[in-house]
Amino acid sequence: MKVLTLVTQKGGSGKSTLVANLAVAAEEAGEKVFVLDLDRQGTLGRWIERRSVETPGFDRVSTETQLDTALATLARQDYSLVIMDTAGTDSPLVTAAIRGADLCLIPARPTPADLEATQPTLEAIQSTRRRFAFVLNQAPVRSGRLNEAAAGLKVLGILAEPPITQRNDHQDALGSGQGVTEFNTHGKAAEEIRALWRWIKNRLKG
Ligand SMILES: Nc1ncnc2c1ncn2[C@@H]1O[C@H](COP(=O)(O)OP(=O)(O)OP(=O)(O)O)[C@@H](O)[C@H]1O
Ligand SMILES: [Mg+2]
Repeated sequence: MKVLTLVTQKGGSGKSTLVANLAVAAEEAGEKVFVLDLDRQGTLGRWIERRSVETPGFDRVSTETQLDTALATLARQDYSLVIMDTAGTDSPLVTAAIRGADLCLIPARPTPADLEATQPTLEAIQSTRRRFAFVLNQAPVRSGRLNEAAAGLKVLGILAEPPITQRNDHQDALGSGQGVTEFNTHGKAAEEIRALWRWIKNRLKG
């Protein structure tokens, strides 16, 4: 069982949106997925309630003890992937979610300021020696080359690909209890999310 944690203190960067989309895309690619929501905002709980199918598995977790218990229980079941959504804060629970991860994914808008704002999160991850990568989210449709900050991450091998473009599908899918790959199967948002899942899957293997 692999554990993927979406984490950044920067609010609104797309943690919950990516958790929902990646959970569905990974299921479609053959994984058995369980989503743990560590954010009291409850974005994903409402998304799960809107879903018409039983997958992915879902539970909320609000303490570190609950998190340990949940991960231990899931490891004994036949789940192949746990994806954790975290709150945009610094807390012991978020640190525990980083510690429990095989890979931490840090979403950020592709601007120098937003990438710089990931610094405290990065420090928290590095102090636990967990593997991590950035993923650019809400990239403009007609984005040209990567900005210097993002290009640097790519050189270091810590930029997940592809960047996820800003598209209505992401908002509409979440609102209808779907992943973008269900909402608009052949759309560009779906293609990007499938490709991102392949990148993550590969990284989780190593
Ligand atoms: N690729 C995208 N294209 C269009 N809209 C997006 C995209 N990613 C996220 N959004 C929108 O941006 C907003 C913030 O996204 P989301 O709630 O996933 O961020 P978050 O990191 O979970 O925020 P928080 O820190 O508050 O939990 C939402 O309205 C979401 O629909
Ligand atoms: Mg969120």
